[in-house]
Amino acid sequence: MSKLSIAVFASGGGTNLQSLIDVSRKDVFDGEIAAVISNNSGAFALERARNAGIAAYHISGKKFPEKNQFVSEILKTLENHKINLIVLAGYMKLLPLEVVRKYRNRILNIHPALLPKYGGKGMYGINVHKAVIESGDRISGATVHFVDEIFDHGVILIQRTVPVLPDDDPEKLAARVLKIEHKILPEAVSMFA
Ligand code: GRF
Repeated sequence: MSKLSIAVFASGGGTNLQSLIDVSRKDVFDGEIAAVISNNSGAFALERARNAGIAAYHISGKKFPEKNQFVSEILKTLENHKINLIVLAGYMKLLPLEVVRKYRNRILNIHPALLPKYGGKGMYGINVHKAVIESGDRISGATVHFVDEIFDHGVILIQRTVPVLPDDDPEKLAARVLKIEHKILPEAVSMFA
């Protein structure tokens, strides 16, 4: 395949984005992060992008209240940068169907649990880790999967486990899972490349 031109979608702090920025500089895969898109104007992920000299875009439903306009703004940005891989790294919104269909098999998402467990509606952020601890499971982990029309559903590319320890609270578990997210997301992009 030709060189990867990657768009990362992120809503928050963007530590997963940072892990991709860091490896992309080491030539681990043949490609570059060409754009970062956030629905949240205050997302530190946008700041990380700017600091790395990557084009940063705030595209939200608030900024573009017309659905069509919102979708076409995303599509236009992806086309302008000749994007051939989208990575959802802590993107808290559903990607519009038009984008999912146009970039089928070219969209990866990272989820902080072992899908298909603890996925779907309401299963995001700290909620996921709370649910894992409440269930009594002794193992959790992270998953990178392809994105299709159904939330947290597409084909799984990589999963890795971490233990759930007896004195864990959701925050402690989240921190342990996040560490392996930072490893498997760059690995998944390399596999894709
Ligand atoms: C990660 O746990 C990711 O799996 C989830 O949201 C969190 C984002 O963290 N979808 P960050 O913004 O990459 O630091």
